[in-house]
Amino acid sequence: MNILTLLEERLCKALGNLGISDKNIYIKPCSNPKYGDYQCDGIIRFAKKNKQQPRDVAQQVAEQLDLKNIASKIEVAGAGFLNIFLDDNFLTELATKICLDSKLGIAQATTTQTIVVDYSSPNLAKEMHVGHLRSTILGDSMARVLSFLGHKVIRQNHIGDWGTQFGMLIAYLEELEENSQEKTNMELFNLEKFYREAKKKFDEDPEFAQKSREYVVNLQSGDPACTKSWKKFVDITLKHCQLIYKRLQVLLTEDDIMGESAYEESLPIIIQTLKEHNMLKQDQGAQVVFLEQFKNKEGNPIGVIVEKSGGGFLYTTTDLAAIRHRYATLNADRIIYYVDSRQSQHFAQVFAIARQANLVAENTVLEHHAFGMMLGKDNRPFKSRSGESVKLNDLLNEAEERAAVVVSQKSDKLTEEQKCAVIKCLSIASIKYADLCRNRNSDYVFDWDKMLSFEGNTAPYLLYAYTRINSLFAKVTDINYKNKPIIIEQNIERKLILLLCSFSEIIARVAKEGLSHLICNYLYEVASVFMQFYEACPINKDNISTETKCSRLKICELTQKVLGLGFYFLGIEPVDKL
Ligand code: ARG
Repeated sequence: MNILTLLEERLCKALGNLGISDKNIYIKPCSNPKYGDYQCDGIIRFAKKNKQQPRDVAQQVAEQLDLKNIASKIEVAGAGFLNIFLDDNFLTELATKICLDSKLGIAQATTTQTIVVDYSSPNLAKEMHVGHLRSTILGDSMARVLSFLGHKVIRQNHIGDWGTQFGMLIAYLEELEENSQEKTNMELFNLEKFYREAKKKFDEDPEFAQKSREYVVNLQSGDPACTKSWKKFVDITLKHCQLIYKRLQVLLTEDDIMGESAYEESLPIIIQTLKEHNMLKQDQGAQVVFLEQFKNKEGNPIGVIVEKSGGGFLYTTTDLAAIRHRYATLNADRIIYYVDSRQSQHFAQVFAIARQANLVAENTVLEHHAFGMMLGKDNRPFKSRSGESVKLNDLLNEAEERAAVVVSQKSDKLTEEQKCAVIKCLSIASIKYADLCRNRNSDYVFDWDKMLSFEGNTAPYLLYAYTRINSLFAKVTDINYKNKPIIIEQNIERKLILLLCSFSEIIARVAKEGLSHLICNYLYEVASVFMQFYEACPINKDNISTETKCSRLKICELTQKVLGLGFYFLGIEPVDKL
């Protein structure tokens, strides 16, 4: 259950009773407990606009606001704010209920939607590199959140598996296999090397280049031999992607793949549709859509090419076909793209064309969840020492090496097997968390030392808090607290309980905006407040009553569940012991 929603409903009723309808009067959580747990804002603005005394209006709203059994006090404050102090009983009952709920009290979607999440989407000619990390883990986290809320989520991995480079790759794969007895070993296949060698040969050997060009044409016209080689190449590279996904604990499977090649046949239909909507103009032989809403520096509409002169379609055309498929076949109500911000213009154009050509319904929601870049400590795009983009596999290997050092310094009481599990967990969690905890709209600096630190807003810190609760539970075997109520005795307990009860609000916002860092910030706050609670509210002392003990254990249990679910949303698998 969402406290904010409950308060908003009650506010809406109160405003209705007063004949006020103003969307700018709203409730928000209050950051300073002195002024209550929640606050009603916007009354001052409303009153001024209507030439009324803000405090008078606030007083009237307070009188109409029915928060019986919810709030212990509603206070008119300052120039015309309303401060809401929640009732302790309301909080403890809610917390007790949430703890027993398999969904941890997170409000489920009132209308379930079919939501397509387009994420990861690497280009197959090359091995996955750090540039694919953000899309992959941001999209995965959002997909997890939306499914949890009850939506039908369709993951789409829009891989770049089509284009002229495949002629060269097919030709090279064919040569390799002709010259070697062994079949290409998929696990060991070095994509980077392969691509480099193929490209070198293409540049140096005219005969090979000619063959490559022929293969492009053959492939595009559906020649069976070329298609077979291409398919083989795609399979090899996809296998590599799947290994990375598995390592990263990302949910994408081969079933989610719907690459550019899958839309090849529907591209002419897109052109036809645009023509029927009178949207196409010939410009130097190319088919172009001019969009009124996008102007260049001279103030003229920007042209978006959808078919090259002499034939051949573009990235935009394929995205239009993908949108059509997602709406018409997959029945999407909402389509979300996790692609870096350099493609913002591209998506704005695709969405505009799709709407104008009725490729989606009027109420189909189209969202580009853009993100910034991963930077090195020098504030430039993150690169390897030799200046190349860092392969994801190498990045994950390095993370494991570094986590191993941390573990050898920190966790000397673990068995070898436990150590391995911890290293794996810490390495993946740290990389993912360091990324997910930043607002996706900005660039961020990738910093090994920070992300592996046990202090601050990091994965190790959170995992440590989580395992601390585990070790606590390992010590209490003699007390049955499961069905006992949560009670509030100390301020810090109240603070923690209120926080635990507001998980639902955070998740509701994330589902709307796709901002995973809100989950991270929330979990960090939960862990920090928990640590304070843990210091201030002992459990295993003799002079503590059973009632208090049970309540505190319940609070620990709820904290652990909230952290656990939070980890799940971020795609992080915790360990029991650190
Ligand atoms: N393969 C593209 C790239 O690496 C990303 C595709 C994103 N999704 C899409 N529907 N365009 O830039």
